[in-house]
Amino acid sequence: MNDLIRMLVEAYGPSGFEDGIREIIRPLVEPHVDEVRVDAMGNLIAFKRAAGGQANPHKVMIAAHMDEIGVMVSHITEKGFLRFTNIGGVFSHTLMGGRVRFEDGTLGVIGSDRIDDRSAIHPLSKHFIDVGATSREDCPVRVGQAANFDRPFEARGRHLTAKSMDDRIGCVVAIEALRHLPADIAHDLYFVFSVQEEVGTRGAEVAANGIMPDVSIALDVTLTGDVPEARPMDVSLGSGPAIKVKDSGMISHPGLVRLMRRRAEEAGITYQMEVLDGGSTDARAMQLAGPGSVAGCISIPCRYVHSPSETVDAEDVAGAVALLVALLTGDMEL
Ligand code: CO
Ligand code: ZN
Repeated sequence: MNDLIRMLVEAYGPSGFEDGIREIIRPLVEPHVDEVRVDAMGNLIAFKRAAGGQANPHKVMIAAHMDEIGVMVSHITEKGFLRFTNIGGVFSHTLMGGRVRFEDGTLGVIGSDRIDDRSAIHPLSKHFIDVGATSREDCPVRVGQAANFDRPFEARGRHLTAKSMDDRIGCVVAIEALRHLPADIAHDLYFVFSVQEEVGTRGAEVAANGIMPDVSIALDVTLTGDVPEARPMDVSLGSGPAIKVKDSGMISHPGLVRLMRRRAEEAGITYQMEVLDGGSTDARAMQLAGPGSVAGCISIPCRYVHSPSETVDAEDVAGAVALLVALLTGDMEL
């Protein structure tokens, strides 16, 4: 699975610029579904029809977002340095000395304006990107171009570290589940690799309004409470996939939470319960789309979310795949 993870996390794809990552994912899902399409916003929708003879199959939408946080050039100085704005939740304290990469491969180093007070952190607006240009004229990058943070994938035993685990690891879970699903599923399955989650779950909103699912399941990362001085949270790395009960944007459908727990227990999958004190996922958009849907989320615990070294545990990832397969394979009595 590490080769697949590396391929996805090292790919370029800030919110709004998902064409490249979509073309990587498309051939990986095509052999396992009946139909693949791309909607106007760029969501990749892979449809697997319910086995024949099903009277009223549930419509189940599974969403993993393929976009990632990044930056966008907003101004180029006379000397060829780039000022930038954030794409999604970019934290100033993760920037200085970091590297970004544009779609054409151009690498930039992040510097900051003079620091007088070392106890303070400059805002984003006092950082710049150095692409080696000496003037606006010889700068290889234009205003409006986007870059992602640049960092190679590293496997350290079970701990897997990279940029954009949020949420390429959810994409990996979706792809692996498609590979392992039996042929005769009783529900219509819509696997959506969504765009623009990091700027407000915009892709999933559009996709869900098009699909109108009865049941919605997001696959995304969640925070952990297991590092020094962490905000108290009952999720830790390596303790299994987390079943979301609540985050700051949604409350999961209790029947779906119960079903996830039961399926995990029947299949002998170690799991944890997630109550997240901030952030939300595509599950919120799916829950609220159209007339609403029964929504929940399988979360992959992740340390250092929205930094260039997001870290997950390989066993949690495998557990998330197993839980999703177990959930989709059986009845959906909620
Ligand atoms: Co995120
Ligand atoms: Zn995410």
